[in-house]
Amino acid sequence: MVPGIGDLLIRRFPRNALAAGLLAVALPAFLAATGSPATGAPGQAASPRCPWLNQALPVSQRVGLLLPRMSLADKTALVAGAGASQQVIGTASTKAIPRLCVPAMSLEDGPNGVGDGVSGVTQLPAGVSLAATWDRSLATRYGAVIGSEERAKGTMVNLGPTVNIDRDPRWGRSFETYSEDPYLNAALVAPEIGGVQSQGEMSQVKHFAVYNQETNRNTSSDNAVVSERALHEIYLPAFWAATQRAKASSVMCSYATINNVSACQDADLLTTILGQRWGFPGFVTSDYGAQHATAASANAGLDQEMPGNAYYGTALRSAVAAGQVSVATLNQMVTRILTQMFRFGEFNHAPAGSARAEATTPAHQAVSTAVAEAGTVLLKNAPLKDALLKNRGRALPLRAGAVAGSVAGSVAVIGPAASAAPADAGGGSAYVTSPFQVTPLQGIRAAAGPRTPVRYAQGLPPDTSLAPVAGSALTPAFAGARPGQTYTGTLTAPQTGTYVLAVKSPGDRTILSLDGREILAVPGTAPTTTYSAGVSLRAGHRYTLQVAGAGPSARLTWATPSQLAPGIAKAVAAARAARTAVVVVSDDTESEAADRARLTLPSAQDELVSAVAAANPRTVVVIDAGAPVAMPWLSRVAAVVDAWYPGESNGTALGAVLFGKVNPGGHLPVTFPASLAQVPASTPAQFPGANGKVLYSEGLDVGYRYYDAKNETPLFPFGYGLSYTRFAYRDVTVTPGQVRNSVSGPGPTSCRCNGQSRRLVTVSATVTNTGRVAGSDVVQLYLGDPAVAGEPPRQLKAFRKVTLAPGQSQTVRFTLTGHDLSYWDDAAGGWVVPVGRFQIYVGDSSALAGLPLRAAFTVTSTLTGQEATALAMP
Ligand code: BGC
Repeated sequence: MVPGIGDLLIRRFPRNALAAGLLAVALPAFLAATGSPATGAPGQAASPRCPWLNQALPVSQRVGLLLPRMSLADKTALVAGAGASQQVIGTASTKAIPRLCVPAMSLEDGPNGVGDGVSGVTQLPAGVSLAATWDRSLATRYGAVIGSEERAKGTMVNLGPTVNIDRDPRWGRSFETYSEDPYLNAALVAPEIGGVQSQGEMSQVKHFAVYNQETNRNTSSDNAVVSERALHEIYLPAFWAATQRAKASSVMCSYATINNVSACQDADLLTTILGQRWGFPGFVTSDYGAQHATAASANAGLDQEMPGNAYYGTALRSAVAAGQVSVATLNQMVTRILTQMFRFGEFNHAPAGSARAEATTPAHQAVSTAVAEAGTVLLKNAPLKDALLKNRGRALPLRAGAVAGSVAGSVAVIGPAASAAPADAGGGSAYVTSPFQVTPLQGIRAAAGPRTPVRYAQGLPPDTSLAPVAGSALTPAFAGARPGQTYTGTLTAPQTGTYVLAVKSPGDRTILSLDGREILAVPGTAPTTTYSAGVSLRAGHRYTLQVAGAGPSARLTWATPSQLAPGIAKAVAAARAARTAVVVVSDDTESEAADRARLTLPSAQDELVSAVAAANPRTVVVIDAGAPVAMPWLSRVAAVVDAWYPGESNGTALGAVLFGKVNPGGHLPVTFPASLAQVPASTPAQFPGANGKVLYSEGLDVGYRYYDAKNETPLFPFGYGLSYTRFAYRDVTVTPGQVRNSVSGPGPTSCRCNGQSRRLVTVSATVTNTGRVAGSDVVQLYLGDPAVAGEPPRQLKAFRKVTLAPGQSQTVRFTLTGHDLSYWDDAAGGWVVPVGRFQIYVGDSSALAGLPLRAAFTVTSTLTGQEATALAMP
């Protein structure tokens, strides 16, 4: 019997109900404080042996006492992983130095909850779902859940959040990061890190920098050829916010090579920008295996190697002895690590948690549900021709409580992702294990209540249940291959139609190609190792089929059109018999270690949706995926809901949204392209690169900036999202003021405009809920620079989420700083505010049609970095 939601919640939270109040009450107090992390229960006290344990002393003095007492071996123990045998908990640890009262440092993933198979934790919605909420306070709560659970598990450093720009929807880790926009990423990273660190856990923001694809990762072929301007304007702002605003303890350098230099030995990045320009006092750790040198890394500013000590163990000691790395440099590395350990109280209150602790609580579960609900984006809810209907002629929200047995309120729930194979999370180090997932079917049943008939039809076989490709169709038979080798065969289709081809490849990155076209990339990581693709084949035609990289345990399976037909027919019958058909589709092929070959949904889900839509005009499609997917059936369905990877509350959140208990208010943090040909990095030279280079030749035109610049209409624009109510915009006003930089220096290059400049322009606008139900909207402000700046047409520079009762209005005020108006000037090596006319656009989507309010102001003199700049209104 399938357990009800109530059962699941009780099983999940047998104790600790008090914790529900903890986050709500304690957290604001932590955050209102000075930004210092909370510390745990009293621990080690100062002793004559370890006087640096004296908490009354300033951190620098404590470091100053300890450092001279450390031997070369002690120092190298702190700057490298100790190896598996010494591991405390987490993905990696340093070695404790008991003689000096130095605790071991344990580091653990990850960005979407405590990862790596650790039990008793909360599976949060993916990072992209959090971004779709556009809600800074939810980001704080999300971070606090992670920090609290990491601490409960006994780790010291959380490896997250992931804040890389989602440059291309094929990136396997699109789900794990926030968005395609630097402003949105920067806006969310600060509160999330604040939340993590409020629990006493260090946050290690990752991956610094320009890590935007899995193909060729950690090889010199992922060599991003990127301009300095794009680096500063697009790829770095979230890291700036993480280190400057949120005071992250540490930064993880990435697998990428940037303009021929490996990120973990990039002195420009680690020393000039992070250390000198930003004045970051924290430490830099390598992504796992991303370090490729000893002296070059140490001298470039890499403080810690993880997870092992190939470069910073004996090799570093030799490099110091040989003078290739100075003692002063090593001391700086150690100082940066010790400073954060003292700052977070680790010497006096080392993590007290344990690997077996039940870290999840009802309060954490509530945060997971709240983010999943608030991040859900209603993409389509078109008026239906069938006007007999009570809910204003639209398919959503569904009405619960129909008379049992009547078709009036009944729901057919369809698709493997609704029950048999739910997709709650993406794969790789961000994957979080939870035994308490609520499936979409369970959630819909619970929300529908006992009087609303809900019938389930799976529609398609789960990918894991397919049969081996028939011997007669495939020549020669597929029997796996050695990793690195390629199987090539001929596939002859017995009939014309849609087939599902699936590859199971545990542990090995495997590529499946048909007639030379890559259709699947299987990373071989959790949560699933079987990936599928739907393909149209013609009877009798011989296709060349290749499987590259699979090991001997790999399997190649399929389902033919006639094998698929009965399941689809059952789904169609269920849809026909119900008032509304809800088809839950998923993309379970998104994971670290492989990029997606295409945007097409796996299996024959497109066929399933089309068949159901033809049978029932009230077909609602729910998408569980971490990134944009193709929707060839879009014009034929009544409604589309994007729930991203919603985490363990999948069904709970979905039920609430579909039945209108929650009004969806999520907005897209990424552009949904109409096709792959339309994306900014559409050429192979741009993604995933060719001949040892990945050309970031789109420059600043990333995400919506590109679509706007090229006048391309995407399937759905960045910032877009519907709701069960409507919003109207009016009364935009612009009040230009004056700016005075808080940092003095000669000329524009010394203008440290990053958030430090004073108020420049105030914009206000009024938004009204003109519908009949309460709901939330995301008021977005885009800035159009004067042509001289050479910027894309519009850039997000401010946003606010507002929640309004029917008829209620709110006037939202935004303040633009000098930095918001500035661009990166390569020649000047800094930020410059250009002279000229700026356009302001306000609305609730990046597309012009969604930006009804327009205004303008003029900057009359370039910001010099020192004195007030007068602004004149037109
Ligand atoms: C990933 C990191 C992760 C690390 C440890 C790497 O492969 O890129 O994001 O933190 O593994 O699991």
